[in-house]
Amino acid sequence: MTGSVELSGLRLSNPLMLASGTWGFGETLSPEILRSVGALVTKGISLEPRAGNPPPRLSETPCGLLNSIGLENPGLAAFRKGILPRLLRIGPPVIVNILGESEEEFLRLAEGLRETGVAGLEVNISCPNVKKGGLAFSQDPDGVFRMVRRLREVWPGWMSVKLSPVGPVAEVAHAAEEGGASALTCANTYPALAIHPGPKGPYFHLGGLSGPAIKPLTLRLVYELSRRLRRPLIACGGILSGRDAYEYLLAGARAFQVGTATLLDPEAPRRILSELDELSRAD
Ligand SMILES: Cc1cc2nc3c(=O)[nH]c(=O)nc-3n(C[C@H](O)[C@H](O)[C@H](O)COP(=O)(O)O)c2cc1C
Repeated sequence: MTGSVELSGLRLSNPLMLASGTWGFGETLSPEILRSVGALVTKGISLEPRAGNPPPRLSETPCGLLNSIGLENPGLAAFRKGILPRLLRIGPPVIVNILGESEEEFLRLAEGLRETGVAGLEVNISCPNVKKGGLAFSQDPDGVFRMVRRLREVWPGWMSVKLSPVGPVAEVAHAAEEGGASALTCANTYPALAIHPGPKGPYFHLGGLSGPAIKPLTLRLVYELSRRLRRPLIACGGILSGRDAYEYLLAGARAFQVGTATLLDPEAPRRILSELDELSRAD
C-alpha cells in the first residue's frame, strides 16, 4: 500500500501527497521529508497576488483546526518565477492548486502553467464565482461540467478537481468526471464556526474545519463516491496516522493527502507512511 501508484497516467512513488496550503512552499519541512512524499500539492495560486484575511486566521477546536487564511498567495507570475523552479528541483511531482473567481481566471491560470514542468493541476472549486453572485463553483454541477470541459481544451495534462464536502457533492463529482477530470480530490474543509470571548464581546471566527473532526465525514464521502465514479479518488480529510490513511484506501481511495497533520508535526508524512507500511504488511 506504500508502493508506487498510478492515477490516470500520473505515477507517484507512494500514495501520500502533501495537501494544498498546509506546508507553505516547503520552507519549514526538511528536504528529506519533501523528497519522501508521492507528490507536492501547492497552496492555491490565483492570477493576481492575494493578501488573504486579517488575523486571527486559525482557531483550535477540540478535535480540529479552523482556518480563514483567505487564500493568501503570491499570484501566478511570482509563483512561476520565484517559487516553482525550487519546488520542481525537490523531486516529487508538483501539482499546482489553482483558484479563481471566474471560469476565465481558471482558464488563464491553466494556460499560464503550460510548459512549466508541473505534473498537473488541482482545481479548487470551493471559491465563489463572481459571475454567479458569489455562489461557489462547488455548488453548481452544470457550471463545474462547463468549466472542466473548457479547462480540458487548454490543459491536456493531468487534472484533479478538488471537491467541497458540502452541497451536491455526488452531482459535482460526476460533472467533473464527465467534463474530463483525471481524478477527484475528496475533499476540502467544512464550513464551521469558533466563538472566542474578547474584551469587546465575543469574536465569531468563520472558517473551514480540518483535522481529525472531519475524518469520519470525509471517509463516508470517499466510500460513497468511489462506488459511483470511474476516475481515481484522492482522499483528504483528517489523516493523522497510517491507520487513517489505511481506512481511506479501504474505503476506495487510490491515494491520499495529508494536511493538518503536517502543520501539527512536520515529521507526520514520514511517520504516516511507515505506519501504513506496517499495517499493510500485517494484512
Ligand atoms: C491552513 C490551511 C490552508 C489551506 N489552504 C488551501 C488552499 O490554498 N487550497 C485548497 O484547495 N485547500 C486548502 N486547504 C485545505 C487542505 O488542503 C485540506 O483539504 C483540508 O485541510 C483537509 O485535510 P486535513 O484534515 O488533512 O487538513 C487548507 C487547509 C488549511 C488547514
